[in-house]
Amino acid sequence: MMRQSLVIANWKLNGNLKLVDDMVSALASARCSADVVICPPAPYLAALETATQRLNIEVGGQNCSVYSSGAYTGEIAAEMLAEVGCKYVLLGHSERRALFAEDDMLIAKKVQLAQQAGLTAVLCVGETLQQREAGKTLDVVKAQLSEVLNDVDFNRLVVAYEPVWAIGTGETATPEQAQEVHAAIRQYVATFNTDAASKLALLYGGSVKPENAEILFAQDDIDGGLIGGASLNTDQFLAICSAVKG
Ligand code: PGA
Repeated sequence: MMRQSLVIANWKLNGNLKLVDDMVSALASARCSADVVICPPAPYLAALETATQRLNIEVGGQNCSVYSSGAYTGEIAAEMLAEVGCKYVLLGHSERRALFAEDDMLIAKKVQLAQQAGLTAVLCVGETLQQREAGKTLDVVKAQLSEVLNDVDFNRLVVAYEPVWAIGTGETATPEQAQEVHAAIRQYVATFNTDAASKLALLYGGSVKPENAEILFAQDDIDGGLIGGASLNTDQFLAICSAVKG
């Protein structure tokens, strides 16, 4: 089964116009068999979209509102992301869940709005260290998926498994740990839609670096990565992109 290979850069609250320029120049001369998506802070979306127009690089939002329009100061609607050229949006990132109190129902609603706007939703799931140590990893991940999978357009869905304890910590899940959860996610998605499960792009995220990317991406059910810290460095990000099996 040929699945989409995908590497997504999540800049979080980092970067500037210089990084937009540097990253685009670096990627312009790179060879990469994976699809590449960059999710910068929203003010840089338009500049990035313009700069990548002739390249095979897509642009994505890091979040969108649960509302479509109205008196919601500070919010950004999925349709607005789509209008400025985004093809993807990250949803349910653990930082949104933990720091901005986003729950599974809210995230499911955002996934629907994003998909209705024509975006591919990158749904992030993952357990905390405490949950892993209590042996609850698969239960937690399935619970995070179930609300969304009940009513979803599988053609516009990517799932990123990001163990919370591996995000920004320098500690990465072992390839075996990651593969185990990825395989379980695919099996769980198959209980909703078998065909969609076999085609679903499943990304690993959490301290992916040039040194560990290749072995992670070589796992059967890992189709690419969601990259935080290392996506702010052009050399590191390019090395990770070229580590994708192709
Ligand atoms: P990290 O972040 O690569 O810095 O661990 C990944 C993420 O939060 O998506």
